[in-house]
Amino acid sequence: MAKIMRRRYYFNTVENKYIKSETIVSTNIIEEKEDQKKIVNQENNINNNICTINIFEDSSERTGGSVYYAATFLCEYLLSIRHEFKHKCVIELGAGTGLCGLLLYHLKAKQVVLTDCDHMKLLNSSKLLQEEGDDNIKNEKILIEYYNWMVPNEISDTFPTEVDYVIASDVIYDASTAETFLNAIQYLCSNKYKSKPPKIIVSHQPRLSGVDDAFYEKLKDDCNFILNQIEPIHGNPVANLFELIYDPTVKKNRKSVFLRMYRVIFQEIFFTFFKISLFKFNFRQK
Ligand SMILES: C[S@@+](CC[C@H](N)C(=O)[O-])C[C@H]1O[C@@H](n2cnc3c(N)ncnc32)[C@H](O)[C@@H]1O
Repeated sequence: MAKIMRRRYYFNTVENKYIKSETIVSTNIIEEKEDQKKIVNQENNINNNICTINIFEDSSERTGGSVYYAATFLCEYLLSIRHEFKHKCVIELGAGTGLCGLLLYHLKAKQVVLTDCDHMKLLNSSKLLQEEGDDNIKNEKILIEYYNWMVPNEISDTFPTEVDYVIASDVIYDASTAETFLNAIQYLCSNKYKSKPPKIIVSHQPRLSGVDDAFYEKLKDDCNFILNQIEPIHGNPVANLFELIYDPTVKKNRKSVFLRMYRVIFQEIFFTFFKISLFKFNFRQK
């Protein structure tokens, strides 16, 4: 059951630091579409060295309905290099609530495209919260787009033709996302935006070493990216930041791709035999 909350995030724009977030009012505007325009917000702004961003969150258990730690961590970094985003076009992958992309909208990016394979209603509602009072709404400065990394070539026609940055926070958290996220950014840089590949900025909270190993192995063996670690301004024991620069001349390690593939196939066969043996054993016991 979705529980929609309106939340406000505070950032210090001098220290480039996340301060706090608070719940403003509980509402299920997602269900009351005709009322959406009425629930607007005049309080997204940057002044007195404080930047406040209002969004909606869904506290049910679906991944991405709330803001993850890596997102506020990424926001701090984006604030610290905010001049880079002025008049630039940015895509956020696995946006969830879209906090990072929406911050860039307020930092005067030319266009932010918030994408996910879920949370479309949530993102659309948050988009409405930002746009109140903005005369440039017709310029589509915030776009909400469905984009699923599992089918990276299925891209809506409304995606921008040129993109400067792709940002993502907490998008590598299981074996499947480690693989599919890389497929998606590889596709975007080598196909869709081939003529001018965007810079990728990722904020990552390591949890399972197996997942991280799979990610870094695939990145090394099967992709054309150079990874640059970014030193966080306030230091951080929990998450890390890196940028990925697409370079088609980076050699893929094909041999190791095959080794990895054989290893996965071998593991699958082993586990299938194991499950069958276990099943037979249980059956005999009965
Ligand atoms: C852990 S959440 C992080 C959300 C947000 N970036 C944050 O840091 O607060 C991961 C997000 O990735 C999205 N995601 C997972 N698999 C995806 C896929 N195959 N295609 C697109 N988005 C995906 C989820 O829907 C979710 O919103």
